[in-house]
Amino acid sequence: MTTVGFVGLGTMGQPMALNLVRAGTDLVVWNRTASRAEPLREAGAHVAATAAEVFTRAGVIVLMLANAAAADAVLEDADVAGRTVVHMGTISPEDSLRLRSAVHAGGGTYVEAPVSGSRVPAEKGELVAMVAGEPDAIGTVRPVLAPMCREIIVCGPVPDALTMKLATNIFMLSSVMGLVEAFHFAARNNLDLATLRAIVDDSQMTSDISRVKSPKLVDRDFSIQGGAADVLKNLSLVAGAARTAGVSVPLTETMHRLMEETVVLGHGSQDFTAALHALEFRDA
Ligand SMILES: NC(=O)c1ccc[n+]([C@@H]2O[C@H](COP(=O)([O-])OP(=O)(O)OC[C@H]3O[C@@H](n4cnc5c(N)ncnc54)[C@H](OP(=O)(O)O)[C@@H]3O)[C@@H](O)[C@H]2O)c1
Repeated sequence: MTTVGFVGLGTMGQPMALNLVRAGTDLVVWNRTASRAEPLREAGAHVAATAAEVFTRAGVIVLMLANAAAADAVLEDADVAGRTVVHMGTISPEDSLRLRSAVHAGGGTYVEAPVSGSRVPAEKGELVAMVAGEPDAIGTVRPVLAPMCREIIVCGPVPDALTMKLATNIFMLSSVMGLVEAFHFAARNNLDLATLRAIVDDSQMTSDISRVKSPKLVDRDFSIQGGAADVLKNLSLVAGAARTAGVSVPLTETMHRLMEETVVLGHGSQDFTAALHALEFRDA
């Protein structure tokens, strides 16, 4: 297989890139904050000095960056001619179309592959990738995605994978925010939170994500898996896409307000279950 590049070694990107290198991929990586590349160097990846160097060395380049502005910054100096750019971060469908045009103008190929799943599935190589692009390009990208994902689901042309990702976000975020509200309600009624966790775990309500988030809510462990600031960005993307399409998203609007309060209270870099603080603040 061709040399693979990976740009953006944050909460998600670092474990994803580690899974690639552990699967034997010839990997070249770059991250703006250099220290985050050290675990990759130790695992056997080549650490590039600049993002542009990644594009020089690799044929397929994965971008797992915070937002579209970060992708713009990375692509600014990149020679994409003959390269396949795989955009895995969550951005608006409009920004993805814009990035595709820029990559095509530079002589490259563009594939969207946003993922469902946060830090723990990323560590386990159990993400679900939603993929959009030309069929040939998707064929090229599949073996690159395989070590990071348990499912690779083709959604159609760009930007349908990102629009699909926004749809899945509505369900995922409302289920976790429901859990946060349930724990808040139980705590304020002096119920035993470990018992609530056991009931959720043993019932029809349980899910992979409830089993990850419930212990955090019992222990008030807000260490990051999916960051509150990132969730606020995601909710803004859903709200924007809904406005464009004239679609009602009342749950998204409520969650957006709560997540804004969470970030304003200073919990933006914590896990988004820190929305519990915003509920407690409202009740104080
Ligand atoms: N966390 C989740 O649960 C989750 C799940 C699914 C999808 N996503 C999406 O995946 C993407 C990455 O998420 P994450 O949680 O890994 O975010 P993160 O921990 O904040 O990492 C963001 C990455 O982007 C880089 N970056 C930011 N601005 C940059 C710039 N101007 N130039 C170059 N690099 C820049 C950061 O570099 P530094 O290290 O230098 O800051 C870091 O490598 C986001 O689009 C997010 O919405 C996240």
